[in-house]
Amino acid sequence: MANETKFSTKLGVIAATVGSAVGLGNIWRFPYEAGMHGGGAFLLVYVLFVLLIGVPVVAGEFVIGRYTGSNVVGAFKKLKAAPFWHSVAYIGLLSSLLILGFYSVVAGWTVEYIYQAVTGFGGATSEEALHSQFDSFTTSGGRQIFWTLLFLAINFLVISRGVRKGIEKVSNVLMPMLFAILFVFCVNALFLPGAAEGLSFLFHPDFSKIDLPTVLNAMGQAFFSLSVGMGVLMTYASYFSSSTRLVNTSVTTALLDTLVAVMAGIIIFPAVFSFGATPAAGPRLVFEVLPSIFTTLPGGSLWAALFFVLLFVAALTSTISLSEVVIAWFIGEWKISRVKATVIYGIATGLLSSLCALSFGPLAGAKVFGMTFFDLFDFASSNILLPLGGMLIAVYTGWMLPRRILRAQLSAPGRDPGAPTPAGVRLVIFSLRFICPLAILAIFVWGLL
Ligand code: PFF
Repeated sequence: MANETKFSTKLGVIAATVGSAVGLGNIWRFPYEAGMHGGGAFLLVYVLFVLLIGVPVVAGEFVIGRYTGSNVVGAFKKLKAAPFWHSVAYIGLLSSLLILGFYSVVAGWTVEYIYQAVTGFGGATSEEALHSQFDSFTTSGGRQIFWTLLFLAINFLVISRGVRKGIEKVSNVLMPMLFAILFVFCVNALFLPGAAEGLSFLFHPDFSKIDLPTVLNAMGQAFFSLSVGMGVLMTYASYFSSSTRLVNTSVTTALLDTLVAVMAGIIIFPAVFSFGATPAAGPRLVFEVLPSIFTTLPGGSLWAALFFVLLFVAALTSTISLSEVVIAWFIGEWKISRVKATVIYGIATGLLSSLCALSFGPLAGAKVFGMTFFDLFDFASSNILLPLGGMLIAVYTGWMLPRRILRAQLSAPGRDPGAPTPAGVRLVIFSLRFICPLAILAIFVWGLL
């Protein structure tokens, strides 16, 4: 995506933003986080974060990106922001590196599972068999590194070629297909013997489960899933035209993104209870449980292969946006070519993701703050850097950016500047000024107590 280009259509804007938001975070990370943190209680807190904090910060990023038309670092320079605010940009760049590190490992898993689906999961159907298959794959360093690097190679190949023509066209077709197939699986899940128990786990909040880990992880999940807090959406918004409605786009993105996460939950939890798996299985949850549903469907391997192909594409549209934040910075600030930027960043992420890939096998014992590299990169980015970046973006847009600019960007294009500010815009501004900073700060302080 060249800097001088703009998204040409409304669909292009939504497809790219939703393409970034919808990914492994919805289908892989949401169910296991919900599974580990109380199901319905997690969902409730998560939805509150998406609405009260996620939507406004998404809109805030859009404002900065479209107003400046720049990459993250360039944006704060153009705004003549005090040096302190440039930290937002560097937090974003670091987050991109860390997230790509662990995310591409899981994206690599999707490639392995496409292969496994085509070969019928080696005949495994029971929970135990699928469990040990996942173990033997993830502890094998070489095979995982191979898929991880292959995934990254595809990611950077697409990016080096320019994102708009290739991936946007592809995702315009494949993302709706992903929705359709998720819908089919949802319906199927409702007929599983564990459906009632699974749905009740997901939708009946047990308020006693709302503790610090639940709140911290739900906040991290909201930021991660919306791709917000690290300048990705700022970068994308620099390609928006003046007619894009920023508040509407934030709300649409948040709703579609949450819908996909909830659909993933509706698919997975009935299966968890039907197949005697545990909801708190962690990152392996989806990779063990989904194949067990596929085997119950006629033409199971085909469904499974199709599903993992779509998951792969969803992961790719997200990693492209993750990479773009750094590539746009290289191009804009360091004046190097897109291809060179791609090679440099490809090598850096390749090295980090290999460390993460080995976290399940040879490097399982290598721990920093009691976490493997994989867990550390995930925790540091989702639970710390993204909320911190989000808090700074909220404070900057809410308090530092001239109110006239903020209002004009958030209001519908062509609106009479003398007309009263619409309620939606006022709500977003109120949240940016008060709710976002205070809530995020309070949770950080709670975490430190
Ligand atoms: N939102 C993506 C997902 O849910 O899979 C992951 C992601 C993409 C996070 C881009 C952050 C980001 F900047």
